[in-house]
Amino acid sequence: MKRIVVLGSTGSIGTQTLDVARRHADKLEVVALAAGTRAEELLAQAREFGVHHLGVGDGRLAGEPVADELAAQARGGARPADAPSSLAEAVARRSAAGEGSLGFGAQAVADLVRLPEADIVVNALVGAAGLRASYETLRAGKVLALANKESLVVGGDLIMPLAAQVDAQRRAAGTAPAAGPAGALMPIDSEHGAIYQCLLGEDAREVARLWVTASGGPFRGRTRGELAHITPAQALAHPTWNMGAKISIDSSTLMNKGLEVIEAHHLFAMPYDRISVVVQPQSAIHSMVEYSDGSVKAHLGTTDMRIPIQFALSYPERWDAPVAPLDFTKLGSLEFAAPDTDTFRCLALARAAGERGGTLPCAMNAANEVAVAAFLAEEGTYLGIAACVEAVMDAHDVQPVESLEQLEAVDAWARTKAREWIAGR
Ligand SMILES: NC(=O)c1ccc[n+]([C@@H]2O[C@H](COP(=O)([O-])OP(=O)(O)OC[C@H]3O[C@@H](n4cnc5c(N)ncnc54)[C@H](OP(=O)(O)O)[C@@H]3O)[C@@H](O)[C@H]2O)c1
Repeated sequence: MKRIVVLGSTGSIGTQTLDVARRHADKLEVVALAAGTRAEELLAQAREFGVHHLGVGDGRLAGEPVADELAAQARGGARPADAPSSLAEAVARRSAAGEGSLGFGAQAVADLVRLPEADIVVNALVGAAGLRASYETLRAGKVLALANKESLVVGGDLIMPLAAQVDAQRRAAGTAPAAGPAGALMPIDSEHGAIYQCLLGEDAREVARLWVTASGGPFRGRTRGELAHITPAQALAHPTWNMGAKISIDSSTLMNKGLEVIEAHHLFAMPYDRISVVVQPQSAIHSMVEYSDGSVKAHLGTTDMRIPIQFALSYPERWDAPVAPLDFTKLGSLEFAAPDTDTFRCLALARAAGERGGTLPCAMNAANEVAVAAFLAEEGTYLGIAACVEAVMDAHDVQPVESLEQLEAVDAWARTKAREWIAGR
């Protein structure tokens, strides 16, 4: 039995992770859950899976009635009517018993990763807010199943050495899961899960190139002029994947692919000039690895995130598929094209940030998060996303990465700059 913590359990990846756990209840036990704002959904999940360690990112919810119900669940599922009237009393009682916990705020969410009963932490938080949880997971010696790509984009220089340390400790102790290409860090992103599988059993020195596939998003083939008046609703309608709002916008601008290039660089220790992006509109090929003898290994499968999520949790085993397999007789043709980086500038900007390295990817990522949020709130334009990212990158004084605190300071600086840029339009 593998015991998992799911951070971001109410989101797209989080709910699909719980679906995998539901289907494989004999192999996966959920021991902790955390969400941002959807406390009622978190409570329902906790009741269904019998989870007593809970975290809520939004501290304002501590004063809401749902907090008493969450506290009752944390104490062992007592009925809400039996709950103590104050949250403080509930927290004190469950802490004394050591059997359950409930916390509010970013640190409370990150604290869940240190639970002694947890083996694997699924980090399905969105944005740079996930970095601290990834860092704390590896510091606690746990396996990190990572959906939160921003952790590696922002903090890859800190995260990868920690992952290598945990991997070495686990190998020395003979602890499962067996080591793979990224050690104690199992990627959930479908492209990186695909590359991971293509690398299994191979000699890393014989890898010539990683091919990261892209669907091209909903605006593939459009000109810059046609993108000027794109609305959030249009950008949220992804052709092949059903995802959270932020990654859906990132997919449409190709920023998501840029973040994935940086993620691949860190995960597989691959120089940027040996990571290529190719548009594959059917999304049937999830990525490929080219070897020095000209052979190319591709990973194909149904476009359903439960497959890479499950692989990250089952490895080194394979469990029954959560979805119908790909039917090649119905697939028809597979198309390939180079990405249009003149129109979709975010891909080129992210790649440039990765190549420059240091704190630039952190500043780039924070500017993107602010610009995407502004676009979704109809306070910024679609083309303004790339322009804002570029302006913040130009203004940033790049430093080598030194610490989590330094990255958090750069992140805050870049967010302020991006908000100023948007306000000045
Ligand atoms: N969706 C996909 O298919 C997909 C594929 C590959 C990679 N990814 C990556 O996976 C990550 C998650 O994506 P998603 O699409 O699942 O996002 P999502 O649907 O927006 O879900 C995000 C989750 O994080 C929680 N959350 C947000 N801020 C939080 C905070 N401060 N503290 C605690 N919880 C917080 C949300 O809680 P509330 O909703 O309760 O506020 C929600 O549970 C992203 O990094 C994305 O790039 C996603």
